[in-house]
Amino acid sequence: MSTPSQLCVIASFMYDLVVTAPRRPEPGETLVGTDFATFVGGKGFNQAVAAARTGATTAVVGRLGKDPFAEEFREFLLAEGIDDSGVRIDPEHGTGVGLPYVQEDGQNSITIVPRANLAVTEGDVEAAREQIEQAEVLLVGLEIPMPAVVRAAQLGRAAGTTVVLNPAPFHPVPPELLDSVDIVVPNEVELRQMVPGVPDPTEAALALHDQVGCALVVTCGSQGLIVVERGSARTVPAHRVEAVDTIGAGDAFCGCLGARLALGDPLDEAIDYANAAAALSVTRSGGAPSVPSAAETTRFIDGRSAAL
Ligand code: RIB
Repeated sequence: MSTPSQLCVIASFMYDLVVTAPRRPEPGETLVGTDFATFVGGKGFNQAVAAARTGATTAVVGRLGKDPFAEEFREFLLAEGIDDSGVRIDPEHGTGVGLPYVQEDGQNSITIVPRANLAVTEGDVEAAREQIEQAEVLLVGLEIPMPAVVRAAQLGRAAGTTVVLNPAPFHPVPPELLDSVDIVVPNEVELRQMVPGVPDPTEAALALHDQVGCALVVTCGSQGLIVVERGSARTVPAHRVEAVDTIGAGDAFCGCLGARLALGDPLDEAIDYANAAAALSVTRSGGAPSVPSAAETTRFIDGRSAAL
C-alpha cells in the first residue's frame, strides 16, 4: 500500500485535441480554425492536478489505455507528484479522448469519447479502498461509470471522508449516490439539466439543494458562484479577468476547493481560494496546464485585496 494522500480523485483521463475557431461550423460547412493544441485532460485528471498544485497530497484512481497517450499522462502525474498507483492500464480500450472547441471569445464546448474510462469498475475502486478511506476529501465525477462512482462515495462516506461530487457531464444522479455526498458542484449547464424548467439560477439552485440535501456550489463562469447551505443561497462574484480559454476552469475550481478542504479550510475560505485559482486558470490555455500554483493564487488574492 502506498502512502495515504490527503485527497483522492476517482479520475477520468481524456487526451484533449483542442481546436480554436471563431465559431462552431454549421452542419455541412467547412470552417477555417485559427489554432490547434493537444493537452492531457479529463475532468478528474484536471482536478487532481489542481489539488496537487494547491498543496494537498493527491492520489488518482482510474484507467488509461495501452497507448502513447497513457505515457504522457504517466509523465505528467509523476512531474506533479500525484500518486498513480490506483491507475490501471486497460487491455482492451484506448485512453479517453476529448475534443474541446474553443471560440475566440474563450468559451468552449467539448465532445468526449471516454473509452478506457468506461471500463472503470467497482473492483478498481475496492482495490483503492485504503486511499479513499484515508483521504480527507474524495472527488468524484460522472465521466466514470455510475456503479464505480457510487461505490467510491459509499466507501468515503463510511470512513468519514468528505465526498465532493462534480456532476459532469450530466447524468441523473441516483439517490444512493446523493446519500453519500457532502458537497455538489455543478456548473450552470448541469444545474439547468438537473432542475429543468426553472429559469432563475438562484431558484434552480435552491430547488437542487432541496433535492440533494447537502451543500451546493454552482459555478456560473463570469457570473460567479451560487452557494447554497442549510436552505439559504448567496452569490460570490467572479474575479474580472481577460479570458483566453475556459477549458477546465470548473475542474480548477473543484480540485482547489477539495484541496483546501483537505488542508483544513472551512467551506467559505476554500470557495474563495478556488474562485481565485479558477479565474487565473482562464487567463491561460489548456485544462490541467493552466492551473496556477498555490503561490500564484495567493499572490493574485493578495493583489486583488490590496486594490480594494
Ligand atoms: O472540463 C474540461 C475537461 O472536460 C477537458 O479536459 C475534457 O477532456 C473534458 O473531460
